[in-house]
Amino acid sequence: MKIKPFGVEEWMNEYENEAVYNLGETCVKSLTVKELLDFQGGGKEALEKIYQMQLTYGTIPGTDKLRGEVASLYKTAEIPNVVIAHGGIGANHLVFSALVEPGDEVISVMPTYQQHYSIPEALGAKVQILPLTMENEFLPNIEELKKMVNENTKLIAINNPNNPSGSLMDKKCLEEIVGIAREFGAFILADEVYRGLSHEGEAFGPSIFDLYEKGISTGSMSKVFSLAGLRIGWIVASSETVKEINIHRDYNTISCGKIDDYLAGVALEQKDRILERNRKLILENARILENWVNRETRISYTKPKAGTTAFIKYDYSINSRDLALRLLRDTGAFVVPGEALQQEGYLRIGYANDSQSVKEGLDKISEYFRILEEEGK
Ligand SMILES: Cc1ncc(COP(=O)(O)O)c(C=O)c1O
Repeated sequence: MKIKPFGVEEWMNEYENEAVYNLGETCVKSLTVKELLDFQGGGKEALEKIYQMQLTYGTIPGTDKLRGEVASLYKTAEIPNVVIAHGGIGANHLVFSALVEPGDEVISVMPTYQQHYSIPEALGAKVQILPLTMENEFLPNIEELKKMVNENTKLIAINNPNNPSGSLMDKKCLEEIVGIAREFGAFILADEVYRGLSHEGEAFGPSIFDLYEKGISTGSMSKVFSLAGLRIGWIVASSETVKEINIHRDYNTISCGKIDDYLAGVALEQKDRILERNRKLILENARILENWVNRETRISYTKPKAGTTAFIKYDYSINSRDLALRLLRDTGAFVVPGEALQQEGYLRIGYANDSQSVKEGLDKISEYFRILEEEGK
């Protein structure tokens, strides 16, 4: 199967290790094992459990404990609705490989995580792009979507909250999309790996799984729970869809790691504490970001409502890849160029790392903007 290179992942693979100020990172500052177990009162019991753990395969579909904890993040999910996968990336891949066939039509928003348009395209589907624009606050234009959907539409892929813009579709918007999909029996895959980090109101906004019988949610321990190193993600879907997905899962997963499954369960038991830590950090850093955007006269953004990233439009005559490379090489500030997300003229800023690093990184970018101005760009 031929597939296009994954722009953001290639960029991260090539340059992230050179970062001094990592504004490419999309996880809320990752936890150490100690920090995680401290939420559980020191974790003596957990460490003992790990010492004694026989490292056979894990429970094939994921332990009931972990699947139950994941189900509790949804209003209507139960254990049989939950499939444990290798990160959110494994979860998305499984959904596409299980449901999309050559000749199907798939609609994906853009910008988004590239899996959502490049995998179905590689599978032989006709992919239509629903653009999310700054003019519309990076939310889907429902009238445009209506014109795209037809009886061949197998799946509509959204990313909510959105990476890179941090936009958040509310219940009304999701219900409108559901109304359109239902008319033609299309699935909706909502990549919800950033769900749980809304800046206002309830931390967990509505999930597509709770709103639509053919709604599929993917999620993960990586971003919201600061545990990307566990490589644990999930799919939450109807039991019929889970059956289809598990046929494919048997070919590429067997089980996830036993220690990973166990620690993810511990983390979800302590989710209120982890989310309290992470929301505090996100809100503080979002303020730092907002002050920076307000100070700079030649950039603009749609203020993020959720997640960990913001998409900055800049008004300098330099392409985003050159700008990001020069920033990295000359200042140590690492960002993702819009080009890697098929959106020229933008930089993606991940603002969920430690506050000092975010602040210093943004200051470095400002210094570099002054140099661009001196160069007449
Ligand atoms: C929207 C989105 N989905 C999925 C993933 C995959 O994350 P993971 O596999 O770590 O859960 C990412 C990572 O950047 C992402 O931004």
